[in-house]
Amino acid sequence: MRLHIPRCLTLLTASCALFALGLAVAQEEEPVGRAPLVGDVANGTRLYRMNCAVCHGFDGSGAGPAKVTLRTPPADHRDGSLMNARDDRMLMDVIRAGCANRGCSKAMPGFSAALDDLETWDVVAYLRSLHLPLSFFFPRLDQYVVKTYAIGTLGNEDFQKGQRERLQEHVGKLDPKQGLPHTVFTLFREDKHRVSPELVPQDPRRLALLKKESKLGYVLFLELAGPRGGKVPVGLALDRNYTITKMVTTLTDPALAGEYNKRLEKYVGMGQRGEKPAFSTVNPKDKAKDKVALHFDKEVTRTYAVAVEAANCFELEERDRSWADDTF
Ligand code: HEC
Repeated sequence: MRLHIPRCLTLLTASCALFALGLAVAQEEEPVGRAPLVGDVANGTRLYRMNCAVCHGFDGSGAGPAKVTLRTPPADHRDGSLMNARDDRMLMDVIRAGCANRGCSKAMPGFSAALDDLETWDVVAYLRSLHLPLSFFFPRLDQYVVKTYAIGTLGNEDFQKGQRERLQEHVGKLDPKQGLPHTVFTLFREDKHRVSPELVPQDPRRLALLKKESKLGYVLFLELAGPRGGKVPVGLALDRNYTITKMVTTLTDPALAGEYNKRLEKYVGMGQRGEKPAFSTVNPKDKAKDKVALHFDKEVTRTYAVAVEAANCFELEERDRSWADDTF
């Protein structure tokens, strides 16, 4: 079924009217009016195959037949870290106008002549179905920021040393100049019933308006070493207390993803601020038997330790921004 924006706006207005009447619209429920604003994925798939797959590939991996002719490889739309660094509005804009003057290679053409606004919205919905969108981790999300930090190189000497020492047993000695680069998404709620989450740019004035009390938590896209070699890409969500609220693999093979997700689920609820991470899902009596579980314990502990230090980098900047007001 195709859902057009005007109908959704009607729904949105209806929910606003309910608020105005003071009727009980539970605050903790999914915002009314957000779900129907999703474009039509089936139509988006069709349009993507016609217009985009030649470069980006049928699977969105960036490996379309025209890739060999391009100097810049087409973006991998399955990469949550890359794709969530653009909000829906930015994706609309880049698809309609092309990459030129938008900080990406002008090999990416504009499609404003081929696709109208609703069709572009459907393509955005399809793009979002190829990776884990941030709202998968925190449905109440309204605004977010993204930044890549070189962990172990920021803040004063003590802070840097502390980060490097805490990570040493998990990732080895860190180069004090290079650090360990990681991208962190920090998510906020606002209760403004936005159509879709907004990416707040790295502008000090905009960042200063983000309130610590509205912070939902952090999302990171990381890689575990697989139990049989290879890499297992995962999306990890931490709440404000650094407790794991979600951890899933982004692998597309359903059998493998199912197997890994069953294991990753066990870590939900583990971890908290100030605690030295050492996760265990194995009964001490079975230690010799369950090698795969032991492997996951170690890998998840390592990834979590890195995620916490990356989130600490955000909080360091947050403290610097707000030391003068009373939020700290
Ligand atoms: C002629 C080849 C080509 C076609 C056709 C094409 N793209 Fe791209 N696209 C690229 C290249 C190359 C990049 C990488 C640009 C870069 O990383 O600097 C890119 C990047 C992107 C990005 C990431 C932009 C960013 O902000 O970094 C998005 C989103 C995207 N394409 C969507 C689409 C969609 C949707 C379509 C179809 C409607 C499409 N592309 C068709 C070549 C193409």
